[in-house]
Amino acid sequence: MEIKIQSLDQIHEAARRFVEAMGDNTVFAFYGKMGAGKTTFIKAVCEELGVSDVITSPTFAIVNEYRSEIAGELIYHFDFYRIKKLEEVYDMGYEDYLYSGALCFIEWPELIEELLPGNTVKVTIEEIENGEREVTLQPLD
Ligand SMILES: Nc1ncnc2c1ncn2[C@@H]1O[C@H](COP(=O)(O)OP(=O)(O)OP(=O)(O)O)[C@@H](O)[C@H]1O
Ligand SMILES: [Mg+2]
Repeated sequence: MEIKIQSLDQIHEAARRFVEAMGDNTVFAFYGKMGAGKTTFIKAVCEELGVSDVITSPTFAIVNEYRSEIAGELIYHFDFYRIKKLEEVYDMGYEDYLYSGALCFIEWPELIEELLPGNTVKVTIEEIENGEREVTLQPLD
């Protein structure tokens, strides 16, 4: 499915539609060029999910943890942009996150593609024209 974000003031409406489409899926890989709007959209989705406090893990700069007041659970937000070796990802214990059953939103999944669980939902964010963004979710079953 596709969700259009015409401008930033519509991002919360778009995030709400995204949340409705999430279903029982937990791992979401966000593909898109630098500056496409991955972080901005993930933050909007987290806000839609009732995240109020932002907890930044001091040990692993690769992952941020947010607590969702609605889900009552942690949400993990990854940014693998700075990863140089897969070893760094093994060392941070990525499996404990990606297979925890908690929501995981991943930026730059290209860099850890082979470690993504089989049921990862692929999300693409693209700037189409005049700053408008198109968010595409791979067909969900
Ligand atoms: N839907 C949108 N409409 C208009 N501007 C947007 C939208 N989403 C993001 N932007 C703007 O684009 C810029 C980059 O956004 P953002 O940091 O979210 O991109 P990113 O995909 O996470 O980039 P990176 O790959 O560097 O992490 C920001 O200045 C942000 O305000
Ligand atoms: Mg980003």
